[in-house]
Amino acid sequence: MAISSYMKWAAVTLATAQLGAAQTYTSCNPLKKTCPADTGLAKWQFNTDFTSGSSAFSKWNTTSGTVESTSLGAKFTISEEGDAPTIESDFYIFFGRVEVKMRAANGTGIISTTVLESDDLDEIDWEQISTYDYSVQTDYFGKGNTTSYDRGTTVNVTTPEETFHTYTVDWTSSRIEWLLDGDVVRTLEYADALNGKNYPQTPMRIKIGIWAGGDPDNSEGTIEWAGGETDYTAGPFTMYVESVKVTNYNPAAAYKYTDKTGAYTSIKATNGTTATNLASSSSSVKAASSSSSSKASSSSASASASASSSASVSAAGSISLYSSVIVASMVAFVVGAFQL
Ligand SMILES: *[C@@H]1O[C@H](CO)[C@@H](O)[C@H](O)[C@H]1NC(C)=O
Ligand SMILES: *[C@@H]1O[C@H](CO)[C@@H](O)[C@H](O)[C@H]1NC(C)=O
Ligand SMILES: *[C@@H]1O[C@H](CO)[C@@H](O)[C@H](O)[C@H]1NC(C)=O
Ligand SMILES: *[C@@H]1O[C@H](CO)[C@@H](O)[C@H](O)[C@H]1NC(C)=O
Ligand SMILES: *[C@@H]1O[C@H](CO)[C@@H](O)[C@H](O)[C@H]1NC(C)=O
Repeated sequence: MAISSYMKWAAVTLATAQLGAAQTYTSCNPLKKTCPADTGLAKWQFNTDFTSGSSAFSKWNTTSGTVESTSLGAKFTISEEGDAPTIESDFYIFFGRVEVKMRAANGTGIISTTVLESDDLDEIDWEQISTYDYSVQTDYFGKGNTTSYDRGTTVNVTTPEETFHTYTVDWTSSRIEWLLDGDVVRTLEYADALNGKNYPQTPMRIKIGIWAGGDPDNSEGTIEWAGGETDYTAGPFTMYVESVKVTNYNPAAAYKYTDKTGAYTSIKATNGTTATNLASSSSSVKAASSSSSSKASSSSASASASASSSASVSAAGSISLYSSVIVASMVAFVVGAFQL
């Protein structure tokens, strides 16, 4: 896997001239300036059943295209060039667990994704490429650092485009686990991400969507990564998301970056309602070893148990199809467009 989903989404979105939607993603990078606090999920657990009608979207914003509730779940469809239906949570979590029950889209070059992303471009990904109806990819990025493209892995999964599977990220300050149907398929330790420098550790939003990596207008590298050109006449291509279960290991009404390090220890979690309350009412953030994570580990006991018996870590993936020229120009493009 090669390049940040953020950048791919940005590229798609820019190509379709939906600048506004994309810009809200990083309208303020807290490593560069002082930003408003992020709205947190103030409770431990939040579940969405996307088969339950339009009320299911009450805490999800559609940032591109149209997404509707159906009997199979939230329906994300690409019918023609430029379609990239996407939703994102209207809250952030600060370490936690996100379980997405999803059936990926069919076709060639269609990418079905779940992305956790923070304001300073920490990112944790699941990506299914429709061209390969037997695998899914994991990836991560720290602070938008895309200079190295060896962070992705490929995981085997049975007919992800016909079958619903549960794709989980379990994220603490010390490690990230990717779980497929409850089995840990990858673990990233804090120290293994450039001694923490590339470790995702700031409050994240959840973004779920599909886009055409194989769009004929995309770069050759993107099309190659997506497994070929998308033939829109073979569509429409649809991803269904039945449900999303979110656990927030540090429930709070707001998260504030107190400096420009992007370190998790610099984030203040507070239940105050306005930024001015932050200083007085903030409580210090719980790290993975505190009481909050003992709750976390008990709530994920079954996953951990199955992990120890059947963990099959795939470090195989790691395809690097992008030329540095493409990447460099995309970085410049995206940075220029988004970190205003
Ligand atoms: C989501 O939509 C609501 C209503 O349009 C808006 O007030 C809110 O700012 C949006 N949230 C995000 C995270 O974009
Ligand atoms: C980005 O990550 C690479 C390793 O993946 C590392 O060599 C480089 O120093 C990092 N850059 C920054 C600015 O941290
Ligand atoms: C994934 O599947 C391929 C071919 O079906 C097989 O060769 C490979 O060993 C599998 N990898 C894992 C980690 O199970
Ligand atoms: C996906 O495409 C393949 C090949 O065209 C087809 O056999 C399969 O039935 C399709 N699956 C769905 C869910 O449409
Ligand atoms: C905020 O309130 C929630 C719900 O009562 C609680 O679980 C959480 O610990 C509080 N967080 C902080 C930072 O005080």
